[in-house]
Amino acid sequence: MRKKIIAGNWKMNMTYDEGQILTSEIVQMAQDEQLKDVILVLNPPFPHLHVVKKLIGGASNVFVGAQNCSDKESGAYTGEVSAPILASFGVSFVIIGHSERREYFEETNELLTEKVKQALAAGLQPIFCCGESLDIREAGTHEPNVKYQLTDSLFELSAEEISKVTIAYEPIWAIGTGKTASAEQAQEMHAAIRKHLAGKYGKEVADSISILYGGSMKPSNAAELLAKPDVDGGLIGGASLKSRDFIDIAKSY
Ligand code: 13P
Repeated sequence: MRKKIIAGNWKMNMTYDEGQILTSEIVQMAQDEQLKDVILVLNPPFPHLHVVKKLIGGASNVFVGAQNCSDKESGAYTGEVSAPILASFGVSFVIIGHSERREYFEETNELLTEKVKQALAAGLQPIFCCGESLDIREAGTHEPNVKYQLTDSLFELSAEEISKVTIAYEPIWAIGTGKTASAEQAQEMHAAIRKHLAGKYGKEVADSISILYGGSMKPSNAAELLAKPDVDGGLIGGASLKSRDFIDIAKSY
């Protein structure tokens, strides 16, 4: 059985106080509303990670994740945060290769391979993002484009390593635009991604990997997306900043 994961990517939002309120509300609601079958991951900006981890306390299905990590293990890299530093205070997940990092920080497939390797070596679970731009979608080449992102960044991993990676399919044209991929479009791409993984690693490994959908997911469209057989959860941006919306998305599973 694949893990069901609802991950919130706070991006560069929330003051320290706001982040604590949001976390406490989510943890409380998850407990009160007995949200046990879904793994919740909160990915705040770096300065929040420690306190978010503390506020999660003993909640068994809520985890903290970072939005990025360095491709280096340690050393003179001013401003960077390494995977071992994150792991050393209980961070469990790390988002790698978000389209905003690919676009604004020029992260290449090659660099992302190094980040994934660092994360795995430190015991973090990477949430590896892939997805096509609007131009590529309109040209009809989204499937080979996304497959290439996966091949180029992930396919030198062993079967054991890739089994620890969660994939997030995030069509760029759906991120922060209010325009969601239809459930059919999401399912089609998730199935293609899984088939691609199966071609390299075999069906058993591919069937064990959770593939999340990201891009304007909200309570009103989550149930339909999450009902699709190859959609194993969501990576939520805007709607993860409101505790009620985030929990309602998870509850719609
Ligand atoms: P939105 O949910 O705001 O569209 O963001 C999606 C996203 O980029 C999550 O990583």
